[in-house]
Amino acid sequence: MRALVLEKKGELSLREIALPLDVGPDDVKIAIHTVGVCGSDVHYYTHGAIGSYVVRAPMVLGHEAAGTVVETGANVETFKVGDRVCMEPGVPNLSSRATKLGIYNVDPDVSFWATPPVHGVLAPYAVHPAAFTYKLPDNVSFAEGAMVEPFAIGMQAASRARIVPGDVAVVIGCGPIGIMIALAALAGGCSKVLISDFSAPKLKIAAQYAGIVPVNIGERSLADAVAAATDNWGADIVFEASGSPKAFADLFDVVRPGGAVVLVGLPVEPVVLNVPAAISKEVRIETVFRYANIFDRALQLIASGKVDLKPLITGTYDFSDSIEAFERAAQGKPEDVKLQILLTGEKG
Ligand SMILES: NC(=O)c1ccc[n+]([C@@H]2O[C@H](COP(=O)([O-])OP(=O)(O)OC[C@H]3O[C@@H](n4cnc5c(N)ncnc54)[C@H](O)[C@@H]3O)[C@@H](O)[C@H]2O)c1
Ligand SMILES: [Zn+2]
Repeated sequence: MRALVLEKKGELSLREIALPLDVGPDDVKIAIHTVGVCGSDVHYYTHGAIGSYVVRAPMVLGHEAAGTVVETGANVETFKVGDRVCMEPGVPNLSSRATKLGIYNVDPDVSFWATPPVHGVLAPYAVHPAAFTYKLPDNVSFAEGAMVEPFAIGMQAASRARIVPGDVAVVIGCGPIGIMIALAALAGGCSKVLISDFSAPKLKIAAQYAGIVPVNIGERSLADAVAAATDNWGADIVFEASGSPKAFADLFDVVRPGGAVVLVGLPVEPVVLNVPAAISKEVRIETVFRYANIFDRALQLIASGKVDLKPLITGTYDFSDSIEAFERAAQGKPEDVKLQILLTGEKG
C-alpha cells in the first residue's frame, strides 16, 4: 500500500510499504477517507521523538481518522460493509487491570497509531478492532469524524473538571487542544470560557464561537481579565492547555477558592507547581491523558449541532500532497487550526 511514511526525523515519503491487513475475528477493515494532521505527527516529523517515544524505524503517520467499513471479522455484528466510521487510535490490552477499571487510556500496554513503533493510518486501508470503531451519525461528515479524536481530549478534560452548570472556566493556550477544551467546556455547561494566548490570529478563530472570550496576554494579564470577569473571585475551573512552563507559575492565581485546575498541556521538561498556593485555596487538581469512553459522547454532541467543529478545519489536502500538508503544518501558521488529508479525492 502507498502510505505517508516518516523515514526518519525531517524526511517524509509517499511510498509503498507492507502493512498488516489481516482481518481478525473481532476486527473491521476500513477504507480511510480523511485523516487530520496532529501536533504530535508534526513533532515526530520535525524532532524525531516525543519524550521517550523515538522514531527508530520508518513509521506511517496519522491517527485522527474516519472512513468506511469494507470488511468485517467473523464475530463482528455491530458493523456492516458501507458503514461510515471514525476510530479511536489507542487500543489497550482488553484484559489489563486498567481496562477492567475503565481507564484503558492509561493502560501501560496501549498501542496507539503513529506512536513509535506503531504505524499510523495515512494509507488507503487500516484494520482495527470493532470495539474501538464508532459509527458516524448520518449528519456527521468524514471531516468531522476525523475531528473527534482531538475533540475527545477536550471532552475528557471537561469530564475531569466536573463542570457545574454556569461555571466560568479559563483555558490557557489557544492551540487546537485549547479550543477543543473550550468547546467541550461550553457544551458541558460552562456559562463562559476565557481563553488566553499571545497570538491574536489564534484568539480570533476561537472568538467566533459564542461564549468564548479571548484574552490576549500580550495586551493584558490573564489575572486581570479573570478578576474583571469574576468580581475578583477567580474561575471555577482552569484548564492548562499550553504546556508552557510560564503558564504554570501563576496557575493558582486565577482559580477561585475551592476551584479545579485541569492539566492537559504537556511541558517538555518537569515543571514546578506552587503547592502552598494550591493548598491555601484547596484547589482540586486533575490530569488528562487522552480519553476513555468518550468517542460516542463526542459524536452525539457533534450530531446534535451543539458543537460545530467545521470552522476549525482550515485546510484540506489530497493524499498525493500530504508531504506539502506536513510542510505547511510544520510552519505553525497561527491561522491554521486543523489541516486534513483526503485519501479518496472527495470531500465529505
Ligand atoms: N494530555 C493529553 O492527552 C494531550 C493530548 C494532546 C496534546 N496535549 C498537549 O496539549 C498542549 C496543547 O496542544 P496543541 O496541539 O494545542 O499545541 P499548540 O502548541 O498548538 O498550542 C499551544 C498554545 O499555547 C500558547 N501559549 C504558550 N504559552 C502560553 C502562555 N503562557 N499562556 C497562554 N498561551 C500560551 C501558544 O501560543 C499556542 O497557541 C501541548 O502541550 C500538547 O502536548 C496533551
Ligand atoms: Zn491527535
